[in-house]
Amino acid sequence: MEDNEEKKDINSSNSDRVTLKKEIGLLSACAIIIGNIIGSGIFISPKGVLEHAGSVGLSLIVWVCGGGICALGSMCYAELGVTIPKSGGDYSYVTEIFGGLVGFLLLWSAVLIMYPTTLAVIALTFSNYVLQPAFQNCLPPYIATRLLATICILFLTWVNCSSVRWATRIQDVFTVGKLLALALIIVVGLVQICRGHYDALRPSVAFEFSQDPSVGQIALAFLQASFAYSGWNFLNYVTEEVVEPRKNLPRAIYISIPLVTLVYAMTNIAYFSSMTPQELLASNAVAVTFGEKLLGMFSWVMPISVALSTFGGINGYLFTSSRLCFSGAREGHLPYLLAMIHLKNCTPIPALLVCCIATIFILCIGETHNLINYVSFINYLSYGVTIAGLLYLRKKRPNLARPIKVNRLIPVTYLIFWAVLLGFSLYSEPVVCGLGMVIMLTGVPVYFVGVQWKNKPKWIYRLVGKLVSTGSGIKHISIFQKLFPVIKAHPVVLCVAERVTYMGQKVCYVVFPQGDPSETEPLTASKATD
Ligand code: TRP
Repeated sequence: MEDNEEKKDINSSNSDRVTLKKEIGLLSACAIIIGNIIGSGIFISPKGVLEHAGSVGLSLIVWVCGGGICALGSMCYAELGVTIPKSGGDYSYVTEIFGGLVGFLLLWSAVLIMYPTTLAVIALTFSNYVLQPAFQNCLPPYIATRLLATICILFLTWVNCSSVRWATRIQDVFTVGKLLALALIIVVGLVQICRGHYDALRPSVAFEFSQDPSVGQIALAFLQASFAYSGWNFLNYVTEEVVEPRKNLPRAIYISIPLVTLVYAMTNIAYFSSMTPQELLASNAVAVTFGEKLLGMFSWVMPISVALSTFGGINGYLFTSSRLCFSGAREGHLPYLLAMIHLKNCTPIPALLVCCIATIFILCIGETHNLINYVSFINYLSYGVTIAGLLYLRKKRPNLARPIKVNRLIPVTYLIFWAVLLGFSLYSEPVVCGLGMVIMLTGVPVYFVGVQWKNKPKWIYRLVGKLVSTGSGIKHISIFQKLFPVIKAHPVVLCVAERVTYMGQKVCYVVFPQGDPSETEPLTASKATD
């Protein structure tokens, strides 16, 4: 009896909702995972991993284990995705399992730390690769990299604000750059090895440590590698649309994550086959150094293709993070202003601007290496909380329908690794990692004042009302566009109208247009009346 009720409970919100078409097959699911994971990380973190791991051999081990951990995590997420069929990923699961406050903290740290920091890292990678060829024997100046990264972010924010279609087009075109760069590195690396150039990889040399390895340093090496692996949880934004998720979700994970791990390991092997660890550590843009050493007159291909790839990466990440920010606001967890869209362009301009401004701020105060540690720490924190939620949900509601149920050892292994990793990285980098935690905790008072406190004085509502109704072109209508950057960007839009409340007050109706925005007239769905 209780079992039935429970099943109804979670699914009841689905019954009156127009469900999305199931059209993502196994191949597209793999493409989504791979397309999301591989980006700028592999062109920037090998240096950080090597620096902390201290030897070539250990850093390769860290890269391979990083892939293993990411596979465990994604299997847990597959279970959550089919048990709680809601869009919004980790944030929705945690809200469902642990309640509003924990969900809010996750969202808060995502908007304040995760999205802007990830964007800043990718943008800095972009500008380092663009500028490196111009500064042959030294690092590009600090100001120049920041300036170029800022220009790039501003430009892409403008594109994203102007047109959904252009944003998705950029995504399609620039993905080519990433594939080109990686294929080139791997093929040239294999040729090097076949010619017998693999001195740094011989076991006797590979485990010569430049510093004594400590658990704390290895934990930091993992944080660096896990930046390149993050993005695996993005499949959860589309679980509803996967054909036969029970079969295809685990299969997609089994295929794509080992593939990504293989690509990352091969790329690192290629780097090590052509340069000494010292050269790699001295280089600011590994792939450029690699190209200069091995590609001769074609060395210009490398910075260009990495620049294209990271440019597409910034665009894709800006696109998704603004949508996630937007859907958090729609739930009433972020200021309602962020749930507004431009009436004609159908783009969430306020959410995009918040992401853009926060990114530029972080860009100017941070340095790539620290930013990666900082963002990976918070990233891990939220994955761990979500996976702990999986175990808690099994205990709290054992009879819930679970189309996929992973072996208990998987979440447990993940959590043990998680606790060790976070503990030691906090110990080794207390300031960088601690700062992230402090910022996360500042969300607690904000939650109680902004979200929990329902009967606030009238003037606050009036003020908020004034704030959100100004601004030309932005009206009290918002639209849910859950788009995800895949190799081919694939827009999905729901077609229901829903009343939105913010801070416990009815604010407006949201109108969701139907179909692909590039085919349908925006906002043709009837506007809801009271
Ligand atoms: N892994 C991506 C890269 O190497 C960067 C990244 C970090 C990411 N976090 C993400 C991508 C979340 C998508 C979603 O460039």
